[in-house]
Amino acid sequence: MSLDKKFENLLLNVSSRAALSSYFFVGKKDKIAADKAAVDTMRAELNKIDIKGKIVIGEGELDEAPMLYIGEKIGTSKGPEIDIAVDPLEGTNFAAQNLPGALSVIAIAEKSNLFNAPETYMDKISANVSEKDVVDLDFSVKKNIDNLAEYKSKRPENLNVCILDRPRHKEIIKKLNELKVKLKLITDGDVSGALLVTNKKHNIDLFLGIGGGPEGVLAASALDAYNCYFQGRFLFKTENDKIRAKKMGIKNLDKKYQLNEIISGDSIFCATGITSGDLVSGIKIDNDEFISETLITHKSSGLKKIIQSKQKI
Ligand code: FBP
Repeated sequence: MSLDKKFENLLLNVSSRAALSSYFFVGKKDKIAADKAAVDTMRAELNKIDIKGKIVIGEGELDEAPMLYIGEKIGTSKGPEIDIAVDPLEGTNFAAQNLPGALSVIAIAEKSNLFNAPETYMDKISANVSEKDVVDLDFSVKKNIDNLAEYKSKRPENLNVCILDRPRHKEIIKKLNELKVKLKLITDGDVSGALLVTNKKHNIDLFLGIGGGPEGVLAASALDAYNCYFQGRFLFKTENDKIRAKKMGIKNLDKKYQLNEIISGDSIFCATGITSGDLVSGIKIDNDEFISETLITHKSSGLKKIIQSKQKI
């Protein structure tokens, strides 16, 4: 079974409308208001669609943001059963401070094909590689770089690696510097970071490091459409995290997940720019219309492109 093509436009409408709502709060130094605007619009737009939808990846528990909570039922309750992952405002700092890279992101899959994960951190790796054992979460940094350099017939110093600039990555960054690879340190926004491997124009060979679990699942759905490599391992730090994970049916808390254990079957992914960034341009207002750019992928139809749309505000 695959998802009807009509959901491509419907989802594009959801993410672009959510992006527009958040856009009005860009540069206003209020992360919560910018997030809430995107969440409320995403919920309202999803509730117009004929699906029996369920939010399986939401956000909010970690930072107490307004959320589309995990388990929330959404849609008109007519139509197919759909699992939904959302990050209505990915890059709350970017939006609040009017910095590049804020996105509104959503992905859908048929029921039970999208990983049901609690909001926690995830160790991730992505590369534009179709074979396994080229890069792996369990390989050392050196082995990943050496293997990838050989696979791409490049010298390690010509590889470009993207990683979140965080103290927790100090050792990895030190190692990457020793290996003389080119680093792209990002301050936030690792859905975009993980997706930079998909297209040569971004000039990123490898993305790695620890970021949000929901962001990992969302990135995996787009990476699947590009046939890229992705692995993720959730990090359950507190006792509470572990209890919640077990309640959600996660038995092995240390498991390394392959892409198709996180998302399988057909899926559609949309990421609309709020502020302009590496992946897509941000919202522009033109009198009573707005122009948005959305990266959309649909695995079964092979759709993978950036769509610019002009809609009435
Ligand atoms: P928010 O939009 O929720 O602020 O997330 C931004 C982000 O940079 C994500 O892209 C990333 O996965 C996560 O934060 C990393 O978390 P932390 O800032 O705690 O290192």
